[in-house]
Amino acid sequence: MKIGVFDSGLGGLTVVQAMTKVIKGAEIFYVADTKHAPYGEKSFEQILQYSLTITKFLTQTHQIDALIVACNTATSAAIQEIRTQYPELIVIGTEPGIKPAFEQTQTGKIGVLATPATLKGEKYHLLANALSRQKEVTLYEQACPGLVEQIENGEIHTPKTKEMLEGWLAPMRAENVDTIVLGCTHYPLVSQVIEDVMERRLTLIHTGEAIAKRLLDLSKKLGHRNHGELKGILYTTDKISKDIVYNIFGREIEIKTIDL
Ligand code: DGL
Repeated sequence: MKIGVFDSGLGGLTVVQAMTKVIKGAEIFYVADTKHAPYGEKSFEQILQYSLTITKFLTQTHQIDALIVACNTATSAAIQEIRTQYPELIVIGTEPGIKPAFEQTQTGKIGVLATPATLKGEKYHLLANALSRQKEVTLYEQACPGLVEQIENGEIHTPKTKEMLEGWLAPMRAENVDTIVLGCTHYPLVSQVIEDVMERRLTLIHTGEAIAKRLLDLSKKLGHRNHGELKGILYTTDKISKDIVYNIFGREIEIKTIDL
């Protein structure tokens, strides 16, 4: 099986990391569109364009069987159009895990951290409204502009990143939030900092594992036997932090720069 995955940068690698725990005998072609990062502060039209260009590259160059949109922002802006243009392809998107958060919260107070574009998107609002009708929960939504750049620059445990998170998390800490949805695939990379700032036991929800399981189910239906070696190539459209890539996988990964 050939699997294409993309994100604006390093974030989607947190999804690939989850995939490597359940998917076997496949080739993964990952595109980190660092030239256009951050997506979350661009218009929906621009994000749609980037997403379609990458999908075309992955389908034409590698004849992928499945595409994982490992980016909440691109899912919100482009998944419908990708599904329309590529009806034969398995297409799995990433959405903020507010459903599991509703199920798991004890205090009834949930924080949602995401990019400005994701929080503005219709998809997010439809889901949040539907869930709010079923259970009385208060959502503390917080856009985190600038956090993706910090992560892409390798600034994870720096005073500036901590200070940014302190500002965004202060209301959640004061209001007894016990569950935080990491609504951007970059944010699991700063989960330790989030826990430190919140100063309490927290449930942090990210969706990599759910995506990996869904991919396994759908691919088995197509006859994928799921054994053997897992191989991969990481394409990047500009610079990428090799140290973070190394930290995510614990080994060197082949990186190729492409012009998209
Ligand atoms: N990792 C992305 C997401 O899940 C996009 C981050 C960005 O480029 O703003 O939303």
